[in-house]
Amino acid sequence: MKKVFALMGSPRKNKNTDKLLNFLLEGIRTLDYDIEKIYIKDLDIHSCTGCDHCGKYGNCVFKDDMSIVYDGFDNSEIVIFSAPLYFNSINGMSKNIVDRCQKYWSIKYSLGKNYKRNERRKGIFLSVGGAPYTHNHFDGTVGVMDLFFKAINVDYIGNYFISNTDETPIEERIDVINEIKEIGENIDKVGNFYIHR
Ligand SMILES: Cc1cc2nc3c(=O)[nH]c(=O)nc-3n(C[C@H](O)[C@H](O)[C@H](O)COP(=O)(O)O)c2cc1C
Repeated sequence: MKKVFALMGSPRKNKNTDKLLNFLLEGIRTLDYDIEKIYIKDLDIHSCTGCDHCGKYGNCVFKDDMSIVYDGFDNSEIVIFSAPLYFNSINGMSKNIVDRCQKYWSIKYSLGKNYKRNERRKGIFLSVGGAPYTHNHFDGTVGVMDLFFKAINVDYIGNYFISNTDETPIEERIDVINEIKEIGENIDKVGNFYIHR
């Protein structure tokens, strides 16, 4: 069975980032996918120290819960990352995971090895920001997520962003709930999307 690996990056369970992810997964659940959802908050993950162990050996010097995340990235057809906007970027706990993906960069570009180069896999990024809507509200996140999805060799096909969550929480946004569920139900067919509500 094809697998979806979903990361929830907010320290607040059952709030906007988590709920947005859950609505997408609810849609995907109508299809034939094995879904694994992980709360980053529950994992013990060391920050990258830039030691370049991965540049020499192709693996990380730290043996911690990142092994669960590497396993998810290595064995899924769809990777979904849901993270809140903190200081115009993804929050630190989520960025910590991204930095630990230096291992993949090293495998490919320092060691010259193949990592899933020819597999077509999909990556989707979800984010919420407390401040009111401005057209460039999430611009600070996209460059980070672009390099992240490139590192793990996943096609970055979708962004779904919601502004103003401090004023109007997602459970009051019926338009958003219906739209994101519908994307989930059609995940096999959707083309590239950038949606900001
Ligand atoms: C440390 C911190 C930094 C934040 N920075 C921003 C920001 O730069 N822009 C913004 O729109 N909201 C910002 N927020 C608000 C959060 O994006 C908002 O509360 C969001 O709903 C958090 O996601 P959650 O509800 O899933 O926890 C920040 C919140 C915190 C705690």
